[in-house]
Amino acid sequence: MNQKILKLSVPLLVVAAVAYLILSPSRYVGYTPDQPIPFNHKIHAGDNGIDCRYCHTGVDNSAHATVPPSSTCMNCHGLGGVAAKQEHVKWLTEQYNNKRPVSWVKVHDTPDFVYFNHSRHINRGVDCSQCHGNIAEAEVVGQSKSLNMGFCVDCHRENNAPNDCSTCHR
Ligand code: HEC
Ligand code: HEC
Ligand code: HEC
Ligand code: HEC
Ligand code: HEC
Repeated sequence: MNQKILKLSVPLLVVAAVAYLILSPSRYVGYTPDQPIPFNHKIHAGDNGIDCRYCHTGVDNSAHATVPPSSTCMNCHGLGGVAAKQEHVKWLTEQYNNKRPVSWVKVHDTPDFVYFNHSRHINRGVDCSQCHGNIAEAEVVGQSKSLNMGFCVDCHRENNAPNDCSTCHR
């Protein structure tokens, strides 16, 4: 009898501990992975005022925000374009000409068992900065909010948004 409980509870504890380590917010806040080349949001979205949606198409009409393909960059940085001689722009142009997509590393990643939808938030006037911080002033993108369950549920409560489990877990 006791042995049976022990056999059951030890693996459960291990699972709980691993889940805690994986899911605790501190693992995410401040996460700033190295990118293939530095991409500076402050220069683009801040100093030059390029709209977030110009690059992150989809953010206001679908679940996903998308990261732009190099062809979007080439609208400005193509041959003879903006900063064409800068080393990272040169590298970018070379990749583009050789049809090699840039492998940007994902920064924000909610677990697969969570359903999230950008457009629902954007169309209700929730600002990017409420979940991502002030990206227009960021030289490097890192995760600035926990994006854990408490973070989502608190804002839903304050805004009378749906809060039953099936809203975010399907
Ligand atoms: C709408 C125009 C536009 C688009 C689109 C654009 N850029 Fe830029 N980019 C600029 C401007 C303006 C600068 C500043 C140039 C300067 O100050 O000399 C710049 C500068 C840069 C630099 C040099 C940064 C530095 O530290 O000097 C890099 C690298 C760069 N962009 C990468 C990208 C990438 C990658 C994309 C696509 C994801 C992109 N750009 C899309 C306008 C654009
Ligand atoms: C010129 C194109 C461009 C513009 C304009 C732009 N971004 Fe980005 N964004 C990128 C690229 C390229 C990446 C991937 C590289 C990185 O993470 O730094 C990125 C990454 C991100 C990420 C992290 C994505 C992830 O993997 O989790 C967020 C969040 C983001 N951008 C938000 C914004 C917001 C908010 C604005 C407007 C204030 C904006 N971006 C404007 C090109 C752009
Ligand atoms: C209510 C919170 C919230 C708001 C508002 C929000 N985001 Fe996000 N964003 C997230 C979450 C959560 C993820 C991770 C999604 C995932 O892993 O499936 C994410 C991921 C991203 C990504 C990575 C690509 C993707 O779709 O996974 C980009 C780029 C991005 N957001 C840009 C933006 C921009 C630009 C805005 C404003 C126009 C914005 N976000 C507004 C919460 C938000
Ligand atoms: C800053 C406030 C805020 C934060 C943070 C936030 N939400 Fe929301 N969310 C809202 C509002 C407001 C709505 C209602 C939108 C509407 O009425 O269309 C909503 C709607 C939704 C919906 C659509 C609900 C439905 O069935 O109509 C989903 C799914 C959702 N949020 C998931 C999330 C998840 C997951 C997170 C955390 C990663 C999150 N939200 C964080 C404010 C927020
Ligand atoms: C507004 C969105 C939202 C609602 C509503 C919501 N959750 Fe979550 N839930 C999340 C997010 C986001 C995570 C992922 C947390 C992380 O990455 O740390 C999560 C994680 C979880 C986990 C994994 C363990 C943990 O705490 O991280 C469980 C279990 C869970 N939710 C159960 C529930 C139950 C039961 C309900 C209803 C009472 C519920 N959730 C309602 C967004 C939501």
